[in-house]
Amino acid sequence: MKIEQRLEQLIKLLSDGEFHSGEALGQAMSVSRAAINQYIEKLDELGIDVFSVSGKGYRLATSIELLNAEDITATSRLPENMLNVSSIVGSTNDDLKQLSDTQQLPQGYAILAEAQTQGRGRRGKQWISPFGTNLYISLYWRLEEGLGRAMGLSLAVGLAIARVLREQLDIEHVAVKWPNDVYINDQKVAGILIDIDSLDDGSARCVIGIGINLTLPETAAQSIDQAWTDVNSHLALPLQRNQFAGRIHQYLVSTLEEYENAGFAQFASLWRQYDKFDNKPVRLLLGERKVDGLCRGVDETGALLVEVDGGVKRFFGGEISVRSADATSY
Ligand code: BTN
Repeated sequence: MKIEQRLEQLIKLLSDGEFHSGEALGQAMSVSRAAINQYIEKLDELGIDVFSVSGKGYRLATSIELLNAEDITATSRLPENMLNVSSIVGSTNDDLKQLSDTQQLPQGYAILAEAQTQGRGRRGKQWISPFGTNLYISLYWRLEEGLGRAMGLSLAVGLAIARVLREQLDIEHVAVKWPNDVYINDQKVAGILIDIDSLDDGSARCVIGIGINLTLPETAAQSIDQAWTDVNSHLALPLQRNQFAGRIHQYLVSTLEEYENAGFAQFASLWRQYDKFDNKPVRLLLGERKVDGLCRGVDETGALLVEVDGGVKRFFGGEISVRSADATSY
């Protein structure tokens, strides 16, 4: 049996958050106690906090609600063949791309994982993906009209997540940052990475990867280099992960259907309601170039509008940040 499968077995046994002796775990898994010690060390590498108390054994810092395809589809009400739940993967985006190379997938097909060892963020950054605590999901979508139609896609996806947080979970101060980050109280809670390529028939294959922090363990969060938060810190009762995953999946599929039918224009006014930068002084970094101006939202294609020297300019890429009043920090 591969080590990943052993670790999955062990996590399942520990997921109830109760103490389990090394001996009992060894027996349940038909391995030695020494092997259990070795696997426990590996759990640490996956960002799972395990307490060890002599005389009592091992227990997880908190119980884990493991992902389960049946429970997710019970909420999403999408067909069962639209979902694949994995345990430990490199990156759900990479897995989904590989899968779509070898078979035809239905629109909105999703891969979810408990942990990613090579989770990818934007601009080559790593996406911290500890086991069993957050949501890592990649969705397949083929845009019939091709790359030209993809411009506002990431904005629509960011808005969908923001709306689930605001409208369904009642969380306040949820905002979107152009082109596609989701914030609560000025701290990042979710990120989106879309891998797009052109297919021979002119359509575009989109692999839409989304990471949402639900409960980010402190140890895992130490390597994040920006202000962050997680959903559960803003709720009275912790989320049920499977139910939340089902809601997100369903909401994304319906948003993507709307997007495919009528483009980004229908979301433009909604963007204004959630826009973190609307009417704020901003700085846009375009490689070496800097543009300072006033953010005027987005146009009907999803391009960023910045007022510079009395005129409004459209931008299609770059990194945006707020300029403070004295324009010295960003
Ligand atoms: C960002 O940098 O803000 C984008 C983060 C995207 C992370 C998600 S998690 C699921 C999917 N798989 C990956 O490897 N990355 C995306």
